[in-house]
Amino acid sequence: MVNVAVFASGNGSNFEALVKKQNQYQVSCLIVDQEHAYAIERAKKLNIPYYVVQRSAFPSRKTHEEEIIKILKPYKIDYICLAGYMRILSDKLICSFPNRILNIHPSLLPAFPGKHAIEDAYEHGVKVTGVTIFFIDQGIDTGRIISQEIVYIKEDMTLKLLEEEIHQLEHIMYSQTLEKLIGGIL
Ligand code: GRF
Repeated sequence: MVNVAVFASGNGSNFEALVKKQNQYQVSCLIVDQEHAYAIERAKKLNIPYYVVQRSAFPSRKTHEEEIIKILKPYKIDYICLAGYMRILSDKLICSFPNRILNIHPSLLPAFPGKHAIEDAYEHGVKVTGVTIFFIDQGIDTGRIISQEIVYIKEDMTLKLLEEEIHQLEHIMYSQTLEKLIGGIL
């Protein structure tokens, strides 16, 4: 079985979708860096081991990540899926899992990187946006793209509806992409 760790900082809906759709992989644990992240409640309900590793509890990014790497070790993790994890990873973690750390972003990268991608695309007036899954590198939303799917922004669509459509697509796409990677199709 392929072991996956999910990292989240907030709501955790993508974490939950990854757990519910697991087939060729299993979500072995959740790492959160925020003690009040709603993802923790989801982990409890789904019976997934979770670890709160707050950055403020460590003197440096290096020691924070060393702790995470230590936690992951016994799980023999094959892939890390970032799912709303609001922290840049250092070389140490990236190099420990080369081409094994995925991230999901709610736009068609390289368009609209950053924290407010859905709103930025909507405000810009683009007619097509979507979701990107990519391998993490040292930059922000710059790594090699693995998969992309589109969402049309129709004439009278509200921002709220666009957000809903994007999130629905994310929840389908993340596990599908991971399964294709595992199966050697991507
Ligand atoms: C998602 O929109 C994802 O694309 C972005 O952060 C959001 C996380 O949502 N990276 P959730 O915490 O999984 O609900």
